[in-house]
Amino acid sequence: MQHRDTETDRCCRMLLGDVFPNFEADSTFGRMKLHDFLGDSWGVLFSHPGDFTPVCTTELGRAAQLSPEFSKRNVKLMALSVDSLQEHHDWSKLVMSLHEPGSQFPFPIIADDRRELVEKLGMLDPEEKDHNGMPLSARCVFVIGPDKKLKLSILYPATTGRNFDEILRVIDSLQLTAHNRVATPVDWRPGNSVMVPPRIPETEAAMLFPAGVYTKDLPSGKKYLRYTPQPNTHQQ
Ligand code: BEZ
Repeated sequence: MQHRDTETDRCCRMLLGDVFPNFEADSTFGRMKLHDFLGDSWGVLFSHPGDFTPVCTTELGRAAQLSPEFSKRNVKLMALSVDSLQEHHDWSKLVMSLHEPGSQFPFPIIADDRRELVEKLGMLDPEEKDHNGMPLSARCVFVIGPDKKLKLSILYPATTGRNFDEILRVIDSLQLTAHNRVATPVDWRPGNSVMVPPRIPETEAAMLFPAGVYTKDLPSGKKYLRYTPQPNTHQQ
């Protein structure tokens, strides 16, 4: 983990492959410790600028709607903002009344009202301030693997809402590439062909991908655009 630690700027940025801090925090599901909460699952921790704000309300509703899709992939969701636990409870009830009346909100919302986590994990948007002039939390997305390491992070400003279908899509890619020596091309969707990474020599690729490797012709004659059908099983 890279540390920046000056008087005005105290945060530690998470890099891909870093073990995510095993923080303890209050949430709408009670007191939680990250690694215990995750167990053997994947996790998505996502922050939002504030409860009872318009873009965040649409995002939280969409994440709640898609929650079964995340569970199918063995992914536990966690939201976070600098609001209080009571505000989280009240807001999540409102969100459910808009999207699925009568249902319980499906995942925890962490109350970081002392700003400890947003500062520690660099989840602030300095461009957007609350009524006291304090920076709001940005729209961060952290995807954490079952080994508790950071697999992906995306940082949106407060003024741009996220696309949770895209978050599911990248999780499909992360889970596929965690178990198979492949890479997913632009706009890949599950079921589409995948790509053979450049570091795999041709002879090894033929053994690794018995379904076939198809090379796209290039004017240079170079053979680096290599596709193979998406593997269904875990490679050893
Ligand atoms: C919103 O969630 O609507 C929002 C929050 C902060 C800044 C801009 C929009």
